Amino acid sequence: MAIVGAGPAGLLLAALLARHDIDAVIVEQRSAEYVLSRIRAGVLEQTTVDLLREAGVADRCLQEGLTHDGIELSFDGGLHRIDFRALTGKHVTVYGQTEVTHDLMRSRAGANLTTDYEAADVEIEGFDGEHPVVRYVRNGVVQELACDFIAGCDGYHGVCRASVPREAITTYEKVYPFGWLGVLADVPPVRPELIYANHERGFALCSQRSKARSRYYVQCSLDDQVDQWSDDAFWDELRRRLPAEIAEAVTTGPSIEKSIAPLRSFVAEPMRFGRLFLAGDAAHIVPPTGAKGLNLAATDVGYLARGLAEYYLEGSDAGLDEYSARCLSRVWKAERFSWWFTSLMHRLPEAGAFGFRLQQAELTYLVGSRSASSALAENYVGLPI
Ligand code: FAD
Ligand code: DHB
Repeated sequence: MAIVGAGPAGLLLAALLARHDIDAVIVEQRSAEYVLSRIRAGVLEQTTVDLLREAGVADRCLQEGLTHDGIELSFDGGLHRIDFRALTGKHVTVYGQTEVTHDLMRSRAGANLTTDYEAADVEIEGFDGEHPVVRYVRNGVVQELACDFIAGCDGYHGVCRASVPREAITTYEKVYPFGWLGVLADVPPVRPELIYANHERGFALCSQRSKARSRYYVQCSLDDQVDQWSDDAFWDELRRRLPAEIAEAVTTGPSIEKSIAPLRSFVAEPMRFGRLFLAGDAAHIVPPTGAKGLNLAATDVGYLARGLAEYYLEGSDAGLDEYSARCLSRVWKAERFSWWFTSLMHRLPEAGAFGFRLQQAELTYLVGSRSASSALAENYVGLPI
């Protein structure tokens, strides 16, 4: 196997394959340090934790990850809890993507498995025939990797999806007219659970990485530059978007990371082209509100690892043949949920005052209805694989 990209999708796929003694080389264009410096997701579904366990890399996540039995929704000056445990019997685990990546990298290095970091000019070819090849330049030398299959785990901007002939692929996309400004700080979280806040000034999210490290986000303009946002300006804006008693309880401190992410919904169909399989952000993007991006990447590679294990160990093509349809059925459910939750919680410039009042009415209905709360909870905690 050749795996392009050492994000969570590529690293987890390689770890799952290693459990079945299936050989995989990862080719990554950045350095390991750079990959680890990207602060992204923080919420793991049980299915993702189960896949980490299956891959033999769940120990630290199980020890240090925080079990969350619910979230809080803030709107119209009030705070309302959605109780996952009571509504679904399930929970989520708060454990940063950086930590997942770190654990996967360490396990891979410990087993002496190859990851070629800092690979330049990565190209793929031959995946429509019997002999796919990944070609790249490392330390000035051209490398050629002949393989049975290529896993395109190289994210939204990667080379794998871009190498598929235009007529073989259909894409669906929605770009949202705002972004998220995120801050990481070594301060205790304001509440034990996450708060998703709908406010006239825009969305805000209070998240966390540990009892001593918080991750906060505010909806921002796509024209904003990170440098324009001082730490003080960020904390002031965050507090304005929270109920007064919560705002007063926020502990502020110097940011250790600050970045702006655009919001996008995107799906490429199908996810298989001959001997090339796309997985994770290479095939689909969700806006981050539903915390689904990393979890979808994990379930994609869970299906792919099973299909490859069936192929190599049992000589069956069935799992590989079903890969794309299985993933896409799950992907569209996550797309729907992420779009819905994003539309409900953000200030939508085009919706005006009427749209804002409708959001308050829908949120009031949501927290007052057991079936509506259950639907949110079921989607947030995720489906079994
Ligand atoms: P990636 O993590 O993007 O990994 C792809 C890897 O491929 C990268 O290491 C990249 O360097 C490498 N690569 C790219 N091109 C090439 C090439 N040509 N050759 C070789 N290697 C290549 N999700 C949430 O649930 N919550 C969040 O708050 C959240 N925040 C996000 C913020 C940002 C800025 C982004 C971009 C995503 C965010 N996500 C979030 C989504 C989540 O982080 C992703 O869904 C997840 O990282 C997907 O993993 P992946 O392995 O598929 O892709
Ligand atoms: C985090 C990010 C999300 O997009 C989300 O929905 C919940 C938590 C986070 O970074 O902690």
